[in-house]
Amino acid sequence: MAKSPAADTVPRHVAIVMDGNGRWARKRFMPRGIGHKAGVDALVKTVQAVSDRGIGYLTVFAFSSENWKRPEEEVSGLMSLLIVALSKHLTKLKSDGVRIRIVGDLANVSEKVRNALLQAQDETVHNSRVVLTVAFNYGGRWDIVQACRQAIEAGVPASELDEAALSRFMAMNYAPDPDLFIRTGGEVRLSNFLLWQSAYAEFYFTDCLWPDFDGVELDKAIASYAQRERRFGDVGASGEGVGAIGSGGSWDEFSGEGA
Ligand code: FPP
Repeated sequence: MAKSPAADTVPRHVAIVMDGNGRWARKRFMPRGIGHKAGVDALVKTVQAVSDRGIGYLTVFAFSSENWKRPEEEVSGLMSLLIVALSKHLTKLKSDGVRIRIVGDLANVSEKVRNALLQAQDETVHNSRVVLTVAFNYGGRWDIVQACRQAIEAGVPASELDEAALSRFMAMNYAPDPDLFIRTGGEVRLSNFLLWQSAYAEFYFTDCLWPDFDGVELDKAIASYAQRERRFGDVGASGEGVGAIGSGGSWDEFSGEGA
């Protein structure tokens, strides 16, 4: 069997739950919207940092399927901020070779927001230095369900529907699975982000609030990632523990046959 790969020093694909904008603002006695605005600035810095480090894919959770539950004022503020942020930063992102891709259910998003997102996607289609995927009105469970629906509609027979076949219908079928999954803001949960794709991701949770995130914080996450031994269900390159259970144990003791 091939040796398990050790973690590469730099991940190919980083996914981020950008949490903590509200608390960042509250600490400064400012409205939550200011925290989200600072969150956009942190995202712009992070895209640059990702690009500088040769990371090809960055995926961010900009708006979850559950975020509609927030007060109407905050939801509409986030929508307006998205439009303003895209018009402010798109030219630079384009010239920096960033390709923007959108994943999520855009059917129930306002036409204005949908058009802004799709325009950013279209205008950057020829770029390839960094693929920035913006998950918008996205949920990991939604993604799995939409993939199943598409597979059924495509006429894939149940007997042929395996993991590889379903993967082809997942929203991020153009990208490798995330190697490093970062969540800022101190919470230790996935919140329905990239459930399917993160099966073998390395997780990094930090108390850093999203607006404070930058290249230095990214490097801390990468340093942690670089120390991990990724086994993908195998026993690891060292083979430690194979054939030994406890000290001097053997599998034979468990087979009932003895040595
Ligand atoms: C979580 O912080 C963050 C969000 C729900 C939105 C993240 C959005 C951005 C960084 C801006 C870019 C995206 C758009 C849509 C303009 P929180 O509000 O849950 O923070 P808290 O946990 O401290 O309250």
